Amino acid sequence: MRPPASPPSLDALALSFISPGHPLYEEELELRFRVLREPLGFPRSAVAFPFEQESLHLVAHQGGTVAGCVLFHPESPSEGRLFQMAVLPALQGLGLGARLVSGLEAELPRRGIVSVHLHARAHVVPFYERLGYATYGEPFTEVNIPHRHMRKSLPSSILGGLEK
Ligand SMILES: CC(C)(COP(=O)(O)OP(=O)(O)OC[C@H]1O[C@@H](n2cnc3c(N)ncnc32)[C@H](O)[C@@H]1OP(=O)(O)O)[C@@H](O)C(=O)NCCC(=O)NCCS
Repeated sequence: MRPPASPPSLDALALSFISPGHPLYEEELELRFRVLREPLGFPRSAVAFPFEQESLHLVAHQGGTVAGCVLFHPESPSEGRLFQMAVLPALQGLGLGARLVSGLEAELPRRGIVSVHLHARAHVVPFYERLGYATYGEPFTEVNIPHRHMRKSLPSSILGGLEK
């Protein structure tokens, strides 16, 4: 186990889109394991999704440390799923999660994406509601805990349509 490091300061964090293979990717996986899988008793092997490579990975980072991340898997030319939303515990509640979702949503219309859905852990539904997401469908269980389906429409971008 690596020694505990002091968390980076919120103001110093940069947001970058990376891909698997990027020097920050292992740190992203470490954050996802620590925040999203280890607390539920899942092993490190349960972190990676089959569609890591074709997903967008937005990370908040400073000095080689990844403090937050959000991923997006395009499932069609115009829609896809936001997943693996995580913020370092020491920095939760300070606006970083909202900043990451906004950063992702700013990029998606440029790629032609106008509809985002996600699987929200039930206790985190209010976080996504504040960001304009609405629940739909029946509650369900995933990673052994209650979840809700949520979705949001994004404004379409003329630029995104031209670039495709
Ligand atoms: C959920 C998570 C990503 C939110 O990120 P964050 O940086 O802590 O959230 P922010 O500080 O940006 O919060 C934005 C707003 O949502 C609210 N909010 C955040 N988490 C909330 C929660 N669990 N319940 C209710 N409101 C919440 C904040 O109070 C804030 O409200 P405001 O705009 O009125 O001030 C983060 O807490 C986390 O990593 N949690 C553990 C992993 C997890 O559950 N991920 C989601 C899987 S679906």
